[in-house]
Amino acid sequence: MKLIKCPTPEAVAQQAAQFVIERINAKPAAVLGLPTGGTPLGMYAELAKAVREKRVDMRDITTFNLDEYCGLPPGDPQSYDVFMRSNFYMPCGLNPPQSHIPNGNAADPDAEALAYDAAIRAAGGIDLQVLGIGHNGHIGFNEPGTPPDSRTQAVQLTDKTRQANARFFSTIDDVPTRAITMGIGTILEAREILLLVNGADKAEILAATLRGPVTPDNPASFLQNHPCVTVIADAAAMP
Ligand code: GLP
Repeated sequence: MKLIKCPTPEAVAQQAAQFVIERINAKPAAVLGLPTGGTPLGMYAELAKAVREKRVDMRDITTFNLDEYCGLPPGDPQSYDVFMRSNFYMPCGLNPPQSHIPNGNAADPDAEALAYDAAIRAAGGIDLQVLGIGHNGHIGFNEPGTPPDSRTQAVQLTDKTRQANARFFSTIDDVPTRAITMGIGTILEAREILLLVNGADKAEILAATLRGPVTPDNPASFLQNHPCVTVIADAAAMP
């Protein structure tokens, strides 16, 4: 894995945006896999700025988000759909046919998951998958114990993940218990992966991801098996 250490989260955001811009400029019809969470917010703001300044043209890209909560009403401010609309699709001028996110309210979540993997394949596969990481090593919503060949599927969220994400909700009881997520196998099929990590609270899981055993106990450790991974982390996460 290639490691890029930045002094601050702001510098991580700039480096990450530059990384994405270079890939789109090299391939204007690039297929991107995208994350939610607090970590990529700065990158999305930098990308929106680059679109406004005409340093990148996103008209021909296609995007697939990693995951979505199950059971939130459509338009719920905590849904990842609304997160992506507010932070990326609208500021970057993406139109609905270009941007995909699992439907967390699908009547048949298993069928939705199968169709999502099929849509990724039909788009030619993901050129660049951007990832964040959970404190327990989850990528997307692939919690510890998930096998490396898992496909997009409906999953149960751990208490640890629900507690970590409770900061976005009024109470922990409002945090959904299920989600649809790309599988680890789906993620590892991306031709290139960019992992973003900020903060001292992620230092331990990042060290385990880079140098620890490759094990389902830390889903992110499977990134060690991918031939083209870049990690951009701030100094607190990569001391
Ligand atoms: C969430 C998302 C992940 C994200 C992770 C870290 O639960 N499903 O895709 O990478 O948790 O989030 P944050 O960047 O807010 O720490």
